[in-house]
Amino acid sequence: MKKRKIIIDCDPGIDDALAILLALNSEELEILGLTVTSGNVPARIGAKNALKTLQICGRLDIPVYVGEELPLKRELVTAQDTHGDDGMGENFYEEVEGTILDNGVDFIIDTLKNNKDVSIIALGPLTNIAKALMKDKEAFANLDEFVSMGGTFRIHGNCSPVAEFNYWVDPEGADYVYKHLPKKIHMVGLDVTRKIVLTPNIIEFINRLDKEKSKFITEITRFYIDFHWDQEGIIGCVINDPLAVAYFIDRNLCKGFDSYVEVVHDGIAIGQSIVDSFDFYKNKPNAHVLTHTDEKTFMKMFLKRIFKGYEDVIDNIEGVI
Ligand code: BDR
Ligand code: CA
Repeated sequence: MKKRKIIIDCDPGIDDALAILLALNSEELEILGLTVTSGNVPARIGAKNALKTLQICGRLDIPVYVGEELPLKRELVTAQDTHGDDGMGENFYEEVEGTILDNGVDFIIDTLKNNKDVSIIALGPLTNIAKALMKDKEAFANLDEFVSMGGTFRIHGNCSPVAEFNYWVDPEGADYVYKHLPKKIHMVGLDVTRKIVLTPNIIEFINRLDKEKSKFITEITRFYIDFHWDQEGIIGCVINDPLAVAYFIDRNLCKGFDSYVEVVHDGIAIGQSIVDSFDFYKNKPNAHVLTHTDEKTFMKMFLKRIFKGYEDVIDNIEGVI
């Protein structure tokens, strides 16, 4: 099988770690590197979490780069209330011995220049991508596909009534990418990702499948589940980022439509993705905005890949997924 080359740009972050786990367990993908930006946690903490996640899968051969440490214009606001002070649900894991490289933005540019068919899956604020585009737009001529977890269409936000976290943290960065990327952006926003809920039942289930393999997932999601209960009265946690990876692998998982999108960068609606679904602006569509997903198919795919060998049980378990 010809593997698809990808860079994962991320801010780990609990659901980023789960998305990386999914990517590492997907043989269709060749991960060329992880680039980290500030978002859920400051980038240097996020990079340590990226290393930890790679270590869990024995893949410390994949390079981790720190990119931009501050949004283009806004002051950094992290989500440590959601992901914990350490970004890993306050497990405060021992630091992994591994190298964290600098200049993530240059890594993105060089990788695009030296390969014809690299895709980017962005799971955090779009600061690294905006900076790379500003520095060398030409390099992006080689970009294959671009998937961004972020934004909202018809659903409420998670940082304000209208804004999703990744675009709200760096609205200028997000808007710049929507306006300048030479490829259509697959917008995997809250309309679809909020359907993806990891429940205590599923966690209990994976513990029964394989205690050792499920340990990390169980540990990091505990804090996240508490947060969801306190904030939203939900039993379980919304895991946004893995859907972006899953959709990159399998287009049948989500449906959407092409539209022009831009991101508001000031005022009451700061961070909102404006999806021009009625074509008021008469601008060429720059995004494919996802509106529907099949959450059960996603969850089965996610679990079957991470818990290989248990495919039949996962397919047939009743009342859990
Ligand atoms: C996004 O914000 C972050 O907290 C998550 O990691 C995800 O990328 C969801 O709004
Ligand atoms: Ca993220």
